[in-house]
Amino acid sequence: MNFLRRKSVTDLQAEAKTDNSLKRVLGPIHLILLGVGCTIGAGIFVLTGHVAANTAGPGVVLSYVFAGIASVFAALCYSEFASLVPMSGSAYTYSYATMGELFAWIIGWDLILEYAVGGMTVAIGWSGHVKELLKSIGVDLPPQLTAAYGAVVQLSDGTMAKAWFNLPAMLIVALVTTLLVIGIRESARFNNFIVIVKLLVIAVFIFGALHAVNPDNWHPFIPAYVPPVGGVGEGHFGWSGIFSGAGTVFFAYIGFDAVSTAAQEAKNPQRDMPIGIIGGLLVCTVLYLLVAAVATGVVPYAELGGDAPIVYAAQKAGMSNWISLLINIGIVAGLSSVIMVLLMGQSRIFWSMSRDGLLPQFVNKVHPQFKTPWITSIITGVVVAGMSAFFTLGEAGDLCSIGTLLAFVIVCISVLVLRIREPNLARSFKTPGIWFVAPAGAVSALILMVKLPGMTWLRLVIWFVIGILFYFTYSIKHSRLRDKTT
Ligand code: ALA
Repeated sequence: MNFLRRKSVTDLQAEAKTDNSLKRVLGPIHLILLGVGCTIGAGIFVLTGHVAANTAGPGVVLSYVFAGIASVFAALCYSEFASLVPMSGSAYTYSYATMGELFAWIIGWDLILEYAVGGMTVAIGWSGHVKELLKSIGVDLPPQLTAAYGAVVQLSDGTMAKAWFNLPAMLIVALVTTLLVIGIRESARFNNFIVIVKLLVIAVFIFGALHAVNPDNWHPFIPAYVPPVGGVGEGHFGWSGIFSGAGTVFFAYIGFDAVSTAAQEAKNPQRDMPIGIIGGLLVCTVLYLLVAAVATGVVPYAELGGDAPIVYAAQKAGMSNWISLLINIGIVAGLSSVIMVLLMGQSRIFWSMSRDGLLPQFVNKVHPQFKTPWITSIITGVVVAGMSAFFTLGEAGDLCSIGTLLAFVIVCISVLVLRIREPNLARSFKTPGIWFVAPAGAVSALILMVKLPGMTWLRLVIWFVIGILFYFTYSIKHSRLRDKTT
């Protein structure tokens, strides 16, 4: 059966060694920074407050713990694969080697939800922050140009109107795409700089607000359960709120796995991929727990539901206006780096899929001077910019989370399948306790998926119907593996 044909791990390893079309410039610190750059974003800066106010109370800290545990399991599985098959296709390439071509296609198609739709989500969040930032210095952007097409906005004269498109979101995607086309070295430098800014912002918030923490705000840590109005839906607070909150704040962890898409640009992927993936995730987890604890300690959780909850908590902790403004600027810069890493990951996955023949050949051209997969970067940028003009943050965020969780489930299962099928491969990094970690990773990702709304599931199904049709009408006939199996 053609759609079950597999790539051999040994062939992939040989390909990774001999393929020098991408420049190998990234060391372990770069890779950790890449992970942190991609991961800390709209999740910690916005969703922490929303989940505290509406879903989990101060127990949002526990939501972060649960979402973090699911992510650590997945990170350990990703690390084994990324060091074994250090290819830019990430989970897509791993499942090609274990579950066969159709699964690889499904994962590749699914990762579009993680990377392109994730980039789009953060671009929309970036737009909202820039709008607020400009407002705080007296510049009001026309509301019709800062929201999704058709969204109702209030004009300065108080009347209501329908928005045209989200211009700032489109502009940031265009800017990031240009950086990606120019080259990885420049892009990585840009990323390193912004990550440092972002870490400084978090440090200023934690240390600057610590003195204002009032432990009374943490009581009750898990507010009493409130049933849903009319008995429909999930309700909030209580342990149930902690778990739904975990589903929502999972978005904050998305991105550590993007390090694996830079495997072919890493100087020593066998050693450095696990360091980058796990190191990035651990740094983020610690910072998330601290930020969530400090924010809910400084103000009563019910007050954290606004657009910029961390900035709000900073102000309430007594930080001056200009420090709050700097925090806001840092967040805007931070979100830019998230968009960059997500879009970089997306273009590299497209590139891998087209090299395998599953997507048309013109997308895998590497630029002769910049040595970047420029055509995929531009196509990705144009599509993401176009879509970010029309989507709301909530719709895009949920879709991104469900796609990423599905990829986690498949990666956790695949790593186990490969251990059984090819136990003797030389693995430079082995997932510890694989018989527990891999199933636990798959099950915990599934539990978080179940917490997402029915509409998101419907979108996922529609997306896959389109993907499967594409596979059976185009990809199966153009696959590079076709010549070997027919
Ligand atoms: N984890 C990323 C964020 O929170 C996607 O923005």
